[in-house]
Amino acid sequence: MEAAFEEFLKEHAAEIVREPDGALCRDMHPRRSPACERILAEILADERLEKPEADGYPHSRLSKWVMTAPRDQRVAAGLGLEIPPPHIHFVPGQYRIFYDFKNTDMVLDELQAAGIAIKGTLLDFGCSSGRNLAVLRRAFGSELELFGADPAQASIDWLNENVKGASAVVSNQNPPLPFADEQFDIIIAKSIWTHFSPSAGRRWFAEMQRVLKTGGHFLFSTHGPHDVASRILLDIPSPRYDRYTGHEKWTRDGFLADLVRNYRDKGYYFQAFKEVGYQPDLHLIENADTADWGLMFVSPDYLKTMLPEGLSIVGRSVGRTGNRHDLYIVRRD
Ligand SMILES: C[S@@+](CC[C@H](N)C(=O)[O-])C[C@H]1O[C@@H](n2cnc3c(N)ncnc32)[C@H](O)[C@@H]1O
Repeated sequence: MEAAFEEFLKEHAAEIVREPDGALCRDMHPRRSPACERILAEILADERLEKPEADGYPHSRLSKWVMTAPRDQRVAAGLGLEIPPPHIHFVPGQYRIFYDFKNTDMVLDELQAAGIAIKGTLLDFGCSSGRNLAVLRRAFGSELELFGADPAQASIDWLNENVKGASAVVSNQNPPLPFADEQFDIIIAKSIWTHFSPSAGRRWFAEMQRVLKTGGHFLFSTHGPHDVASRILLDIPSPRYDRYTGHEKWTRDGFLADLVRNYRDKGYYFQAFKEVGYQPDLHLIENADTADWGLMFVSPDYLKTMLPEGLSIVGRSVGRTGNRHDLYIVRRD
C-alpha cells in the first residue's frame, strides 16, 4: 500500500470504525428501528399476512419479507411499490426492493440519539423517487407531514403519483427552494453533501437554515475518513474514477493519492463529475450542470467553516449510511 495511504489511515484512526479483530467495519446497523419496528408490529398483528422471519435486524426482516411475499400480501401490508422503471432515478440498495428500510431507520436512530422528536414537518432534500419518504409514510402515517425536493422532474412526478401522502417539488440545482421560511421541523439529505462542491454546499446550507424552523434540525451525510478507508482497504465503492472525473489516466490509486494529499492540506477534496451523460444523478435533470456536483470529501474542521452562523452541530456519527458516510445533525439556533 502507498505510504501516503498508510499515513492517512494512521492519522485518522479515531475516525475509522474497526471490528474487534481490526478489520474495517463494513456493516453498521441502526441501534434503534423506529420505522421498521412499527411496520413489523403491524404485519405481525395482521391475521391476513404471512409473518416475517423471527430473527435479525428489523430492517433486514422487513426487506426479506418484501422480497419474498406475494404481491397481494405486500399490497395488503401497504408495501406494494416496485422499483421504478429505469428512466426514473432510484438508488438500488442491498435488497432488490423499493423501500430503503435500513437507511430510514439509520436516520431516525441518529435523530433520536440526539434527543430529537420525530414529528411535525419533514423535508427529504434530494429525495430521488422517494424510497425513504415511502418508509416514513408507511411507519408514521399522519404523525409526520412529509415533503420532498429533487431537481429530477421524472423522479418527482413518479413520487407524487406513487408515494401517497408525501408532497414533492422539483427544485433547481441552485437555491432557493419553493418553500416558506421556517417551514420544516426536520430536514434530511442523504448522499447530497457527498456531491456538492464547497461553494454549492455553503449556498445550500444557508438555504437549509432559511427553511428550517428555529430549533429545527437538519441531518446530512458526508464522505469522511471512514469512507476514504473503505476505498483504500476494500475498494468500496469502486467507481471508474477516470470516467467520473474526466482525468483519462486517473487510476483508483491516483485518485486516492490526490484525495489524501488535498484532504491533509486543505481539509477537503472536491472533483466535479466529468459530464452529465455518465451520471445517474444528473442525466435526468433538465439543463444539469456538473460544475458544482461531483465527489466531495470533507474533514469535520473544514465542514464547520462551511456552516453559516446560527447552524450548530449537535451530532456526528462516523461511517453510518451505506456503511461509509458520516452523518451530521445541525440545529438552527
Ligand atoms: C445519490 S442520490 C441520493 C438520493 C436519495 N437521497 C437516496 O438516498 O435515495 C442524489 C440525488 O440528488 C439529486 N440532486 C442532484 N443535484 C441536486 C441539487 N442541486 N439539489 C438537490 N438534489 C440534487 C439527484 O437528482 C439524486 O436524486
